[in-house]
Parts: sequence; structure tokens; C-alpha cells
Amino acid sequence: MTKEEEKKSPPSRRQFLAAGVAAAGGVLLSGLFVLRDGLLFLFPPPREKRFVKYLVGKKDEIPAGKAKEISIAGKPVFVAHLPEGFKVFSGICPHLGCIVKWKEREKEFYCPCHRAVFGKDGSVLAGPSPRPLDEFEVQVEGSLVFVLLERSKGGLGS
Ligand code: FES
Repeated sequence: MTKEEEKKSPPSRRQFLAAGVAAAGGVLLSGLFVLRDGLLFLFPPPREKRFVKYLVGKKDEIPAGKAKEISIAGKPVFVAHLPEGFKVFSGICPHLGCIVKWKEREKEFYCPCHRAVFGKDGSVLAGPSPRPLDEFEVQVEGSLVFVLLERSKGGLGS
């Protein structure tokens, strides 16, 4: 059979089967990629949390039972020295975003806008706030106190 005749003749059974297997393999592979992408879309792998670490003060700058107001990226933050250790809270009221104050004598946070009161642990004691003050992770290294703010959340609460 010449080359010209081979081109014009219908494919042999073996060639037909080989083409069919190759096509089926391609379709199966494409299906697997679509399935993988679909599963990754529906169940994305957990992302590693990334933190930004801010120095908020020295341990001896904040005596036990006191809180110090500082500003991080222009937002108010309170560093409280409690019996259980240092705690850092957002100074932004979860109700409507006013700035809370620390009341030294009562050892609680107070929002002057609508009179929300928060305990020294940030919990809601009174008023309209729907939730406690945002609390941030603290790290004490030697004599220094740091706060860790999650980078993806943009940091400092509502
Ligand atoms: S904004 Fe703080 S109580 Fe309303």
C-alpha cells in the first residue's frame, strides 16, 4: 500500500481503538482537574495566620491594676496589667465605634457615647454593646510587652 492509499483508507481497528483510548484519557484527565479545582474552591486549604508584632510598652511602665492607652496605626488600644497578666484590648466600642475610656477606680472600661461598661477582661457589664471589647494576643519577652495583630484582619477591631 502506498502512502497515498494509506491516507485515503479508513483507520484500522487498532488505530481507531488507540485514538479512542487517548480521547477517553484526555476527558478523564480534564475531569480530574475540574474536580480538583472544584474541591479547592469549596474547601480551600487553611491559610497560615500572619501576625504583625508591635511593642506596646515595658512591663514596669504599667503597674498592676492599671491600664495604659496607646495608639497603634492611629487606633486606640489599652494595655491592662491584670492579676492574670497583661491583656491588650481595642479601645473601639463594638456598639457604634466610639472610643472607650479606662476608669481607674472601678477597674473597668466605659464608653461615654451610650454608656456601655466593660469589665477589666473586656466583657460587657452594661449598656448596648453586642459583644466584648476585641482582645489581642500578647507576648511578653523579658521586660517588654508586645501585641500580635493578625495581618489579614487589618488589625485593630471594628
Ligand atoms: S458606641 Fe459605645 S455604647 Fe454606643
